[in-house]
Amino acid sequence: MGRIIRNIKKVRQLISDFRQYRKRRGIYTCSVSYFVDNKRFSRGVVLVSGGTSGIGLAAARMFLLEGAKVIIAARNQSKLDKIINEENNPNLSAIQLDVSDISSFPMKLLNASEIFGDINIFVNCAGVYETPQEYMTLSDKYEYIMNINHKGMYGANLAECEYLKQCNIKGKIINISSVAGEQYHCTPYALSKWGVNVITKALAMQMAEYGICINAVAPGNVPTNISQWHRELDRNNLYTEQHRNHRLVLPEEVASLILFLASDSANSIIGQVIGIDGGFIK
Ligand SMILES: NC(=O)c1ccc[n+]([C@@H]2O[C@H](COP(=O)([O-])OP(=O)(O)OC[C@H]3O[C@@H](n4cnc5c(N)ncnc54)[C@H](OP(=O)(O)O)[C@@H]3O)[C@@H](O)[C@H]2O)c1
Repeated sequence: MGRIIRNIKKVRQLISDFRQYRKRRGIYTCSVSYFVDNKRFSRGVVLVSGGTSGIGLAAARMFLLEGAKVIIAARNQSKLDKIINEENNPNLSAIQLDVSDISSFPMKLLNASEIFGDINIFVNCAGVYETPQEYMTLSDKYEYIMNINHKGMYGANLAECEYLKQCNIKGKIINISSVAGEQYHCTPYALSKWGVNVITKALAMQMAEYGICINAVAPGNVPTNISQWHRELDRNNLYTEQHRNHRLVLPEEVASLILFLASDSANSIIGQVIGIDGGFIK
């Protein structure tokens, strides 16, 4: 008798689980729990361009949690001020810069290095995106996107390598590319990210002998502020048809990969573009 009652309870539980499963179908959520070692970056001074939003801000916060001193950089001074006020952390500072102004970058970098001392980790996250509508024409968007995502990335990498070499620092550079950088889409954004991959791979080979380690991460779709489409993505339901695991990538997941590449655990990873895209459907 007891066995029959236990079996009936089991069947009821199964039916209830199945109902729950059906209710949740189409709703994909995710919470990120990550390993935090508050000593991993206790000697780290990090400059994060594009650090006021999305992936860059998530990375800046994660570096702070793991003991680093962090300088965030972006164009909009009021956004920088707002984040500094909100975070209220003595290990966080900010500088205003536009990465497309490559002639001013080396001086900005020196100014930044006076805040907490020598910078040994650079996260080049500043970037813009335009929904491809006029991709078969050479519109103003081409100049705008290439100047920031490609020329800005190139200028930043050259200045950062020169700085690390001059100061004899064995540093890390992590560039933010995109799945678009490996797709055959003739859009300014995709072209700019192909460029990021080439810069990463080529410079990494030249710089390895100085102990400078350069890699890139290539995210799929991440709900950030980079475009109207991205801003409208539902933060409560991460479902997407574009990823094989059916959900968007969280900024914190990308940040976690950035921190891994910046850590000593990744010292033998050189010149790689590492995808983090839920198995993006190309
Ligand atoms: N979200 C995605 O689905 C996705 C996918 C693949 C790759 N990515 C890449 O990830 C990186 C970060 O994007 P996100 O999605 O986190 O976007 P986001 O939320 O819009 O953040 C972009 C950041 O870059 C800064 N920025 C833009 N232009 C700049 C410039 N000329 N100089 C300095 N800072 C500049 C922005 O601040 P200001 O506007 O104040 O300058 C902001 O802090 C980009 O390189 C993007 O291409 C994003």
